[in-house]
Amino acid sequence: MGGSPAPVGREELLSRLERVLHSRGRALLTGTAGVGKTEVALAEAARAEARGETVLWLATLPADRDIPGAAAAALVASA
Ligand SMILES: Nc1ncnc2c1ncn2[C@@H]1O[C@H](COP(=O)(O)OP(=O)(O)O)[C@@H](O)[C@H]1O
Ligand SMILES: [Mg+2]
Repeated sequence: MGGSPAPVGREELLSRLERVLHSRGRALLTGTAGVGKTEVALAEAARAEARGETVLWLATLPADRDIPGAAAAALVASA
């Protein structure tokens, strides 16, 4: 670990997320809107990139609303 700092108060959660990702290859962050899921995911993505790992970031955009498969196409294009 190391690199970018964890979001305030999330060091323990970030460590746990890294352990789960490395042991299971996937993780799901859940919680009510605004609780900090995206912030934690961004922090983990920054750490993984700093370690030289490939990070694919997929997020739906309002502009994609009427384009079937837009998000999937963006993911494939970024890979
Ligand atoms: N640990 C934290 N300390 C301070 N601010 C935070 C923290 N986590 C998230 N925030 C801020 O709170 C707001 C909501 O966080 P966000 O990650 O977008 O929530 P979610 O994805 O769960 O809806 C954002 O402005 C974000 O920068
Ligand atoms: Mg979010």
